[in-house]
Amino acid sequence: AHVWRGLIEEYRDRLPVTEATPVVTLGEGGTPLVPARHLSELVRGRVLIKVEGCNPTASFKDRGMTMAMSKAKENGAEVVICASTGNTSASAAAYATAAGIRCAVLVPDGKIAMGKLSQAVAHGATILQVDGNFDDCLNQARKLAEAYPVELVNSVNPYRIEGQKTGAFEVVDVLGDAPDIHALPVGNAGNITAYWKGYTEYAKDGVASRTPAMWGFQAAGAAPIVKGHPVDEPETIATAIRIGHPASWTGATAARDDSGGRIEAVTDEQILAAHRWLSAREGVFVEPASAAGVAGLLAAAEAGEVEPGQTIVITVTGHGLKDPQWALQLAAGAEGSVEPVRVQPDAVTIARAIG
Ligand code: F0G
Repeated sequence: AHVWRGLIEEYRDRLPVTEATPVVTLGEGGTPLVPARHLSELVRGRVLIKVEGCNPTASFKDRGMTMAMSKAKENGAEVVICASTGNTSASAAAYATAAGIRCAVLVPDGKIAMGKLSQAVAHGATILQVDGNFDDCLNQARKLAEAYPVELVNSVNPYRIEGQKTGAFEVVDVLGDAPDIHALPVGNAGNITAYWKGYTEYAKDGVASRTPAMWGFQAAGAAPIVKGHPVDEPETIATAIRIGHPASWTGATAARDDSGGRIEAVTDEQILAAHRWLSAREGVFVEPASAAGVAGLLAAAEAGEVEPGQTIVITVTGHGLKDPQWALQLAAGAEGSVEPVRVQPDAVTIARAIG
C-alpha cells in the first residue's frame, strides 16, 4: 500500500528542495476530494470538494508551511514570524515546533477564532495581539523580518506559494485532468495565486491538457479586489478573510484574467447559508470563510451563469472545529441556543424522542 509521505516527498521534483533541505513535515497534503451530491444536482454537473480541513493543523496553510519551515531551517533560521487571522499562526506554531524553531505570531485584536488561538498556544508560540487588523499585523511582521534575523512565513514568502500549488497537482492527479472551474475563498490572495501556479505548471508539462477558470470569492465587507481599491476597515464574520490590503493582489488578478475566471463578493448571509448547505446536506464541516467558494457557486448558479455538464472543484480551506460557534448559532436560529433533548436512560423513551 502507498503510504503518504507529506507533500514535499510526494512532489519533490516539482518543488525547490534539494538533498540538503531538512524536510519539516507533519504529513500534510493528500486531502480528500469529496463528491458533493446536492451541489452537483443543483448545477447539473460534477462538483467536488477539496477538504483542506483534513490537513494536520486543519487548514490549507500546512501545505505552504511545510515548505516555508523546511527552507527556514535549511537557511539556519532560529525564529520565524507571521501575521495571521488565525490559521497561519496555528500552522506556523505547529511546524516551528516540529522544526525546533521559535515562533512569534501577530494576530489582530479580538478577531481570531478560539480554535486557532488554542492551537498557537498549545504549540508554544509567542502570541502578540496587535491593536489593529490583519493588514496592520502583516505590515509589522514585514518590518520585523527586514530589521531582525527572523524569517517571515506569510504567503509573501515564495516558498509558501510553492507548497500550496500542490493542491492543484492533487486535483489533477485524482481527476486525470484539470476541472472546468476551480472555486475558492480569497483573503490575502496567496492561495488563488498558488493554485493557478500549480495548474499552469501541470498544463505546461502536459500532465493536464488544460487549466480551469479560477473563481475567487471575497467577503462583501472585505472585497478590495472586487472593488478595485484597498479597504481600510474590512468587516466580515468570516474572520479568516477579513483583509483589506491583500499581499498577493496582482497574483490574484493574474489568475482571474489569465484563466478567464472571476473574483466576486459574497455577503456574510450567503457565506453562512453555504456553510449550512455544506454541513447539513453534503456532510462537510467548515469554518465560515471556507464556505465562500460554495457561496459563490450557489450565487452563480442562481444567476444562471453555470453551464451544465461541467466539472467544478471547490477548495474548502479550514475545518469547522476551528470556529464552531457558527454551527450552534445557525442551528439555534431565532431561539438563540441549542438545548439537547433530555431523556431517561430507557430505550422506549429514547425511541419516542427520536421519532
Ligand atoms: N480560508 C481560510 C480558512 C483562511 O484562513 C484564509 C487565510 C483564506 C481562506 C484565504 O486564503 O489568504 O491565501 O487568500 N488566512 C490567513 C491566515 C490570512 O492568517 O490564516 P488567502
